[in-house]
Amino acid sequence: MDHVELTAPGLLLRPWREEDAPAVLAALREPAIAQWNPSPGGVDLPGAREWIRRRADWSADDHVSLAVTGPDGNPLLGSVSLHRIHDGDASIGYWTVAEARGHGVASRAVTALTSWAFAHLRLHRIELCHAVANPASCRVAARAGYPAEGTLRESYRYGDGRRYDEHLHARLATDA
Ligand SMILES: CC(C)(COP(=O)(O)OP(=O)(O)OC[C@H]1O[C@@H](n2cnc3c(N)ncnc32)[C@H](O)[C@@H]1OP(=O)(O)O)[C@@H](O)C(=O)NCCC(=O)NCCS
Repeated sequence: MDHVELTAPGLLLRPWREEDAPAVLAALREPAIAQWNPSPGGVDLPGAREWIRRRADWSADDHVSLAVTGPDGNPLLGSVSLHRIHDGDASIGYWTVAEARGHGVASRAVTALTSWAFAHLRLHRIELCHAVANPASCRVAARAGYPAEGTLRESYRYGDGRRYDEHLHARLATDA
């Protein structure tokens, strides 16, 4: 798959770049991201570079991973990615750096990537999972048009090593 850049109001969603590594390192170490988007074993600068390298390589056609930035490509505000793309299905994940939270960054980024994916990847269903203990993520799902479908019991081990119940949300290409 070729790289794309997307826009959302006040945001640019662009492919990851090597020079994002220090900002990625700071983000992945921030406590809320370390808890809800855990990097197994923690992360150092080489690990942040490897994290970027994997997300910048779209050659397997199984993910689309974008940095969420200000309109000029900086600063780094967050991350949004579609993963497990297969046979019309995918999952979406995201985080926002602590300083940028509460301004609609995640909601706008998820909405923009979702719309692009339905139009250009011909997906039918995108799933979004978050810990029930993470209500901000539940709000992002609702704002981005992903209705809740149910609760998965102790379905994922998060950053503190504990298993948490999760809400499964999903959006279909045919949803209004
Ligand atoms: C969850 C997260 C991505 C939200 O990012 P954001 O850019 O602040 O999200 P938005 O501004 O688009 O929307 C935030 C919504 O959550 C609500 N919210 C924020 N903090 C909240 C909290 N502690 N409890 C309940 N709702 C909260 C906001 O009021 C807003 O809802 P509203 O629009 O109905 O008022 C961000 O907090 C984050 O990165 N957290 C750590 C990592 C994480 O949770 N990632 C998601 C894993 S599934």
